[in-house]
Amino acid sequence: MKDLPMSHASPLSRRAVLAGLTALSAPALFRPRTAFAEAGRPFIQPPLNEGRFENGRRVFDLTVAPGLHEFRPDIATDTIGIDATFLGPILAARAGDRLRMNVGNRIGEPMTLHWHGLHLPAAADGGPHQEIAPGAVWSPEFDLMQKAGTFWFHGHQHERTGAHVWAGMAGVLRVTDEEEAALPLPRSHGEDDFTLVLQDRRFDADGQMPYAMNMHDRMAGMQGDVMLVNGQTSPVLEVDAPMIRLRIVNGANGTFYGLHFADNRTFHQIASDGGLLAAPIPMPGAILSPGERGEFLVDLSDGAAVMLRAETFGAEVAMMGTSGVHDVMEIRPRAARPAPALPERLADLPALPDATGEDRRFDLAMTGMGMMGDFTINGMGYDHSRIDFAVPLGATETWTWTNTTPMLHPIHIHDVQFRILSRNGQPPADHEAGLKDTVLIRPQETVALRLSFTDYADPVLPYMYHCHILEHEDAGMMGQFTVV
Ligand code: C2O
Ligand code: CU
Ligand code: CU
Repeated sequence: MKDLPMSHASPLSRRAVLAGLTALSAPALFRPRTAFAEAGRPFIQPPLNEGRFENGRRVFDLTVAPGLHEFRPDIATDTIGIDATFLGPILAARAGDRLRMNVGNRIGEPMTLHWHGLHLPAAADGGPHQEIAPGAVWSPEFDLMQKAGTFWFHGHQHERTGAHVWAGMAGVLRVTDEEEAALPLPRSHGEDDFTLVLQDRRFDADGQMPYAMNMHDRMAGMQGDVMLVNGQTSPVLEVDAPMIRLRIVNGANGTFYGLHFADNRTFHQIASDGGLLAAPIPMPGAILSPGERGEFLVDLSDGAAVMLRAETFGAEVAMMGTSGVHDVMEIRPRAARPAPALPERLADLPALPDATGEDRRFDLAMTGMGMMGDFTINGMGYDHSRIDFAVPLGATETWTWTNTTPMLHPIHIHDVQFRILSRNGQPPADHEAGLKDTVLIRPQETVALRLSFTDYADPVLPYMYHCHILEHEDAGMMGQFTVV
């Protein structure tokens, strides 16, 4: 299988990406890729799983096991799935629920399952310290303390995160609450509300997708040339609604997606990682980094079919440019009809909390310019037995990140939904002003975050902070902190 076509660099987009613009250039380099995909299969979503109720708890039973998935008709690809042949269900829960997760490991090697974006006790986090032995079942229990939003879960085994997620070990958690339910927004799952896990994969001549990293993958993260939506290529979504909501998860290992519509229609972002924004933000395009989520409203009142596209690029976009524009999904409305007005206001975002605790600095660097990709935070690689620092319970801190590498790094912090204080000294753009758990840090940027550490302390078990390019994480661009 050939590598990504690096020669198709787009200087315009590169500039847009690096300048932090959300307006992507017109896709001048559009090259349809239909060699792999059979276009036109109906869009599918993973099944919605509302769990079962037991003693006042919402219980989810999840079995992680090897699968055989047909990305292409009649070709079975070895995968890992969660109650499925690839990826997992969409778990549906309400804010305030007491959750119990029964996670069974049938993959024949140690694994973990991490609840990305959730505020919970470290022991329930599912990071690299909550290893599940082959054949065992892990059953954390915790309160769902989020606002309505789109969260996800994925493997996080020490040095195996990239391999496990690549194989399919990920799923979505869809959280509802009363604040969101009171707003006039599309929310009928499968009718006007759709969840899309975006990924890309590379297949070999036998239709397999081995996790075989070449030198470039180690540096930039694993990328593929086949776009997947919920494990499916080139889906077509037929809708019977004038306005739809797309909940989009960037579930890629190392690929950034510059999302836009082929007819350049404006769409509205209504939520970031941790829930609703203050108001709908009109966007000509949206960049989602690995790990990030966004919810978007799309006006289909003209009744015209439209293609959702993604300009794809890797961490090394500053040097290499983007790798192309992919068709993601065609949307076909059944009819033209007037769309409802957008709500003017969404959530009351709390004012940025004042800092009460430490200012911490995090310097993202690459050592040795080695081709083996030595990524460090504050000069150190990850050490499973080293806790980097302890945060006092109740503290609100400022964490300032600088990136001296020539690469993009989407930084993710466990346990918290944080706020972006500034990006290069400027306040964040509107679509980044809400609740975040993953933030893109471009080369030469300095990004300051404000984070509050509440409710849960543990003297021993840590939370992680890391680059969400999974190959960077596995290569050691990760640290750990406790809340005490
Ligand atoms: Cu989504 Cu520590 O990961
Ligand atoms: Cu996480
Ligand atoms: Cu990185």
